[in-house]
Amino acid sequence: MHSEESVKVREEQSFVEILISRVENLNALNPDVLQSLLLVFEKFERNSQKKVILIKGDGEKAFVAGADIKSMYDLGQRAIADYAELGQRVMRRIECYSMPVIACVNGYALGGGMELALACDLIIASKRSKFGQPEINLGIIPGFGGTQRLLQRIGIGTTRKIVYLGTIIEAEEAYKLGVIDMIVENDKFQEEIEIFARNLSQKAPIALMECKRVLRESTEPNLLMGLRYEVEGFIRAFATDDRKEGMRAFLEKRNAEFKGS
Ligand code: CAA
Repeated sequence: MHSEESVKVREEQSFVEILISRVENLNALNPDVLQSLLLVFEKFERNSQKKVILIKGDGEKAFVAGADIKSMYDLGQRAIADYAELGQRVMRRIECYSMPVIACVNGYALGGGMELALACDLIIASKRSKFGQPEINLGIIPGFGGTQRLLQRIGIGTTRKIVYLGTIIEAEEAYKLGVIDMIVENDKFQEEIEIFARNLSQKAPIALMECKRVLRESTEPNLLMGLRYEVEGFIRAFATDDRKEGMRAFLEKRNAEFKGS
């Protein structure tokens, strides 16, 4: 296991495992993690032999509990725009990586964490995992592509329900809704994701890469337009007093009182 700060990389013969490791903050995505993810994906994209990539969160509790609320709280308008752009660039980099990327979720995948999973080709989760876009409870909207990729995955009705209410849903429910692709027993998690990765990496690589490219490019125009709308909406919501109250309430471990300003 080779460490690049809070993103660790383990390279096997047939796949690469990326571990996001900020356990004390439930692996929340700060700029450091986002930059490291970008570098890791760029590095593997340059390899002549492209490998399937697995993304995991460190520890027993979370895949990723979202964008890092602590590091976002004090950001001004320019800085939050840069932050959202960086997050979106990382998700696109993953989405455009030549070979399939599998989100391996064992615990919470919330906000930017669910968005990270949605940017991957497939989502495998342990039974105890939980999913959600709880940004509304902070006075903001998803900013790393969640509205658009969820819309593409499960349709507008259920996307509205998840994004408007910010409810956290169990893995079984997420599977029934089509948010995730496979559920595995908690104690078989590592074994099952490795079996899946090895199976995938035995397929004809050029055909596999073409499958990924064709499926992505055929839905790309709407996605790219929607991602622009999302960033704009995210920045507008971030400028409100409700956003400050929502994030302060989270940090003070209380419910937010929104005023509509
Ligand atoms: N950012 C920063 N720190 C976070 C975090 C996040 N997204 N999620 C959890 N943490 C931190 C907590 O602040 C806490 O730190 P302290 O010990 O210093 O207080 C630590 O991780 C453990 O978390 P909790 O004490 O809250 O653990 P819990 O078991 O009571 O609750 C949880 C777990 C339900 C996941 C809860 O932590 C939670 O709701 N987290 C926030 C989820 C969220 O709102 N995500 C969206 C973020 S905004 C976003 O992602 C925007 C975007 O699209 C770009």
